[in-house]
Amino acid sequence: MTLLTSIIDVRRRIAAHIVGRDRELDLLLAAVAAGRDLLIEGPPGTSKSTLLGAITADWGIPLLFVEGNADLTPARIVGHHNPSRVLREDYSEDNFIPGPLVEAMRTGGFLYVEEFNRAPEDTLNTLLTAMAERRITIPRVGTVSALPSFRVVASMNPYDNVGTTRLSTSVHDRLCRLAIGYQDAEAERGIVALRTESDSLRLIADAVAITRATREHEDITQGSSVRGAIDLTLVAWQLASLREVTVPDVTDIEPPRDLPDNYRQVMLDAVYVALSGRIHVDDTADATPETILHRIWEDHFLLRPAAAAPG
Ligand SMILES: Nc1ncnc2c1ncn2[C@@H]1O[C@H](COP(=O)(O)OP(=O)(O)OP(=O)(O)O)[C@@H](O)[C@H]1O
Ligand SMILES: [Mg+2]
Repeated sequence: MTLLTSIIDVRRRIAAHIVGRDRELDLLLAAVAAGRDLLIEGPPGTSKSTLLGAITADWGIPLLFVEGNADLTPARIVGHHNPSRVLREDYSEDNFIPGPLVEAMRTGGFLYVEEFNRAPEDTLNTLLTAMAERRITIPRVGTVSALPSFRVVASMNPYDNVGTTRLSTSVHDRLCRLAIGYQDAEAERGIVALRTESDSLRLIADAVAITRATREHEDITQGSSVRGAIDLTLVAWQLASLREVTVPDVTDIEPPRDLPDNYRQVMLDAVYVALSGRIHVDDTADATPETILHRIWEDHFLLRPAAAAPG
């Protein structure tokens, strides 16, 4: 009963700093409170780190990040002996430099392994053993037991299949899984307003709509997350002041009608800066990021408003 009331309090405190994501927060909290390790599967920029950071901060425990790639050997996550000290003093517990896995176990933190599916097989096995046994034996150091709040949280991008290991069924069988997608436009406008501290609803609405359109375009394999909308809002705001362009008020969020030319031009240039490096153009499409972004911009500011015009 105390556990139940306290988990409700945790959720209430965390929810105050996060836009939407009520369901994901509930599921994530339920899984970690149940003592489970889990895999979060979703594209970049979909609140994964934000949610985990909020939970660990509230619990007062560390959140340790490691990125899964070919260099993430078992020795890198477990730790190693300082080589020059070993020469002088021989191996000892004292000259062992703990890696993030041992650090997380000793401090009762969350070990967050991003792009889990890019880590080598033997590293995955080391993690699975630590998860299953909650302790690890290190040669010449001894056994490290995990504090009760130790968790392994893995993440992966479902669209990622470059340089990845296909996770075996035995890995999947040991983890809970939370699938997470993009939020709706209203939530994304809320996130951009929170992160940019901008009060220009016009700018935020246009930045979010254009960024979201990159996820739907047929020639783009992966569009931009809300991070692109945050940067687009900030860059456009500065560019508008440099060019002494007034950002119009919102009259109508969708579609944006009769906006001055100089504002639309500011948005086009800011779109190139904020989004061109964030989108992945399909190899078979005969287009550059700029030509595709130009089309998206045109569609947002010129074509769609014209199609929706009365009469
Ligand atoms: N629900 C949300 N509420 C408030 N801010 C959010 C929310 N979702 C995302 N953000 C903001 O958007 C940005 C990206 O979010 P975050 O870092 O959590 O994504 P991620 O899923 O961890 O991405 P990646 O897979 O690339 O690591 C951050 O600046 C974060 O503050
Ligand atoms: Mg992250």
